[in-house]
Amino acid sequence: MRASISSLSVLVTGVSALQIPLLSSSEQAPVQPAGDYHGEKPLVNSSALQDLISGDKLFARAEQLYEIAKLSQEKWPTRVIGSAGHDGTLSYIYETILALGNYYEISNQSFPAVSGNIYESRLVLGDEVPKSASPFGLTPPTRNKEPVHGTVILVNNEGCELGDFPSSVKGNIAFVKRGTCPFGTKSEHAGVRGAAAVVVYDLGSKDGIGGTLGTPSPNHVATFGIGSEDAKPILKKIKNKNYVDAIAYIDAEVKQIATTNIIAQTTFGDPDNCVMLGAHSDSVAEGPGINDDGSGSISLLEVASQLTKFNVSNCVRFGWWAGEEEGLLGSDYYVASLPEVENKKIRLFMDYDMMASPNFAYQIYNATNAANPNGSEELRDLYIDWYNDQELNYTFIPFDGRSDYDGFIRHGIPGGGIATGAEGVKTKEEAEQFGGKAGDWYDPCYHQLCDDLSNVNVTAWVVNTKLIAHSVATYARSFKGFPERTDSVAATEYTKGVKYHGSKMFI
Ligand SMILES: *[C@@H]1O[C@H](CO)[C@@H](O)[C@H](O)[C@H]1NC(C)=O
Ligand SMILES: *[C@@H]1O[C@H](CO)[C@@H](O)[C@H](O)[C@H]1NC(C)=O
Ligand SMILES: *[C@@H]1O[C@H](CO)[C@@H](O)[C@H](O)[C@H]1NC(C)=O
Ligand SMILES: *[C@@H]1O[C@H](CO)[C@@H](O)[C@H](O)[C@H]1NC(C)=O
Ligand SMILES: *[C@@H]1O[C@H](CO)[C@@H](O)[C@H](O)[C@H]1NC(C)=O
Ligand SMILES: *[C@@H]1O[C@H](CO)[C@@H](O)[C@H](O)[C@H]1NC(C)=O
Ligand SMILES: *[C@@H]1O[C@H](CO)[C@@H](O)[C@H](O)[C@H]1NC(C)=O
Ligand SMILES: [Zn+2]
Repeated sequence: MRASISSLSVLVTGVSALQIPLLSSSEQAPVQPAGDYHGEKPLVNSSALQDLISGDKLFARAEQLYEIAKLSQEKWPTRVIGSAGHDGTLSYIYETILALGNYYEISNQSFPAVSGNIYESRLVLGDEVPKSASPFGLTPPTRNKEPVHGTVILVNNEGCELGDFPSSVKGNIAFVKRGTCPFGTKSEHAGVRGAAAVVVYDLGSKDGIGGTLGTPSPNHVATFGIGSEDAKPILKKIKNKNYVDAIAYIDAEVKQIATTNIIAQTTFGDPDNCVMLGAHSDSVAEGPGINDDGSGSISLLEVASQLTKFNVSNCVRFGWWAGEEEGLLGSDYYVASLPEVENKKIRLFMDYDMMASPNFAYQIYNATNAANPNGSEELRDLYIDWYNDQELNYTFIPFDGRSDYDGFIRHGIPGGGIATGAEGVKTKEEAEQFGGKAGDWYDPCYHQLCDDLSNVNVTAWVVNTKLIAHSVATYARSFKGFPERTDSVAATEYTKGVKYHGSKMFI
């Protein structure tokens, strides 16, 4: 791999500009792959595009991205929205596509995002510090960011109606069961009724709840989740008419910031029939996000770069979403703002989030036509066929709202994607299918500081980037046999099964 030719300067607020070498797209030797011509460039061909994917190029971009993440803080690299590392990532993506000349039309879509930070938290119920307690994402702090004291008040039903909250919750700690409605609704109701804090308990899990309150409301109050083991003794005491005192404390901040989606669309190809694919440009605050989702973002950049050697019949549109980690903000905003006529031009959306987990499995979202817009299953089958052709194993994973496909499916656009695994545990069978270590997470550094350059398996990354290239080449060439778009009605079956909104559960 040759080193950079041009360089990109990333401006860091209050710090001197840093030169980051940019892999030049002008490295494109004037290759003329065999195949049918379509103007001056040959019509894109899957095997030819796949052949241009190299692990060295992917990894060299990962090294650049890691340097960019360090712009936030040398010792604590991150690309969370609002950070210098994320701004640098956006510049990097933008400049990389810009360097490809007029092959693409690039646009920035700015949107308001919320960003939550939890600095400290503590919950005491009676004499116990419940082990499973964790504050929900986007929770406000307790009053004046100080501990609040009160009695634990059991809420009726599941707290989905304002009337479920007895008047005694005022100034006290509302204790509400998980289920039926989103956590945000429960917190909102508690706030309206004057509760000082909320504890949502989950009788279905000992581990507590990795939840989020979702879109902030001025009525939200500090909210924790706890698991069944910690909840049962409290419920028993309350049932026996014993008072349980509680102390709740959260120091947190919910900020409104502007951030940006970057969209690049081929200037050739039928603009009324687009194949769209996306990855998220941001990471969590906890780390640099080289696998999550530096890997997918880079796969898209490489495929976009190599695609310029070909012509396309259908338009290809790439999206780099911001605010995925805050709850799919960028992709939601993008799809929600599409007028109906623009929505219909997107024939399908392919999500590429986490392509290189160190303890990977080749995972395909189980997106069927029964539950999702027509065409989702044809896309799923394209992935299946490709892994079969390569004699590689694959598994199906739930299509349940954990990544940026969610907004597309909800707006009637067929979709799917592949992944390599996050905080799930690899089974013994999967260790036989894919190698790696049973009993460990697919990505042991998921959402942590160690999601760095050592946290990608380049073998898996190359395999999946070739599959991304195949998916792009197939649909850029032709939509023959792929269902026509119908209307953009919501996918009701899908919506029923969804518990996640991004990495956190909302209900
Ligand atoms: C794609 O390109 C390869 C060479 O890279 C060639 O062998 C093959 O025939 C091409 N396929 C089509 C459908 O053009
Ligand atoms: C792509 O194909 C179209 C349609 O055949 C043609 O008009 C255009 O010039 C081609 N572009 C390139 C760069 O080959
Ligand atoms: C789009 O955003 C990128 C990244 O922040 C920036 O470098 C570029 O100047 C913006 N372009 C326009 C036209 O606003
Ligand atoms: C995939 O989803 C369908 C429902 O949409 C379900 O019937 C099927 O069992 C699922 N398959 C796997 C392997 O999870
Ligand atoms: C696929 O999985 C089977 C076990 O289910 C294993 O024997 C085989 O080696 C795996 N294939 C590859 C290419 O890893
Ligand atoms: C990546 O995965 C392959 C296949 O399981 C394995 O042979 C290789 O050692 C892994 N590489 C790293 C750096 O872990
Ligand atoms: C889905 O698409 C196929 C193929 O285009 C078509 O035959 C079928 O009727 C469509 N199904 C629905 C529910 O629209
Ligand atoms: Zn992700």
